[in-house]
Amino acid sequence: MGEEKKAMFERIQELKRLRNAVVLAHNYQLDEVQDVADFVGDSFELSRIAAQSSADVIVFCGVHFMAEVAAILAPDRIVLLPEIQAGCPLADMVTLEALLEKKKQYPAAMVVTYINSPAVVKAVSDICVTSSNAVSVVNSLDTDEVLFVPDMNLGSFVAGQTDKRIILWDGYCVTHHRVRLADVAAARRSHPDAVIVVHPECRPEVVKSADYVFSTGGMIKFARETSYEKIIVGTEMGLIYRLQKENPHKQFYLLSQGLICPNMKFTDLEKVSKALETMQPQISVPLPIRDLARRPLERMFTAV
Ligand code: 13P
Repeated sequence: MGEEKKAMFERIQELKRLRNAVVLAHNYQLDEVQDVADFVGDSFELSRIAAQSSADVIVFCGVHFMAEVAAILAPDRIVLLPEIQAGCPLADMVTLEALLEKKKQYPAAMVVTYINSPAVVKAVSDICVTSSNAVSVVNSLDTDEVLFVPDMNLGSFVAGQTDKRIILWDGYCVTHHRVRLADVAAARRSHPDAVIVVHPECRPEVVKSADYVFSTGGMIKFARETSYEKIIVGTEMGLIYRLQKENPHKQFYLLSQGLICPNMKFTDLEKVSKALETMQPQISVPLPIRDLARRPLERMFTAV
């Protein structure tokens, strides 16, 4: 780390104390942001920490829907998203209007909404899921029919592990959807003795051809516990930094060079520091959306 970065790193530590702030970083964040964070984790872990934190300020280094979830679960805290442009194309693939229309078509279905979604959509959903708990949450529901919103790939993965009828939404993560079967074949040829783990946001045929399917948190746990020394990672490249840091004697390879989410790379040390100096940009969710969106999130916490 250069002198300038070091100074910024120190300044952030000082500002954290000054503001009584906690810095949360998603597993896909830049290395320097992961290093300065108090907690690095997957969507489920970070939403839990946000809900339980006693800090006055939550700096969410991730994308917009994640900061929104923190603002819903911790409405008395200030939530900062260091880069306001950091969005999630998948979350934007569902709107309130489109979901209300679809609900009319399937009045008996329970609406299960991936955490990667806008607050207004959560507000009209029955329960939320993350990639780490989608299968167990769906299987816990007292319904035969589920409208799964908005990730069709995660929805297909769930459909393969439940007897319930899953109605899919036409949405996908542009980063994971980019991975093709040819990438899996090429990775197996390059590293024949490696195991392949992929995120359930990948296409169904990619998921089927992989050895294991995990959320980012699941991949961290797997890498720690497995006896495999070589692991091909089918999720956003930012995860490799943490995997390598925690498992220095193992080797990790990115499944496809297309696995980069530009939105996750918008946040850097400078923006984290600036957010803590200026206490901007703040993310809040107005009432009544906030209270309505809180219910499916809390149902998720109690379901698993
Ligand atoms: P995880 O919950 O596995 O961290 O996934 C979050 C995400 O946005 C994947 O694209």
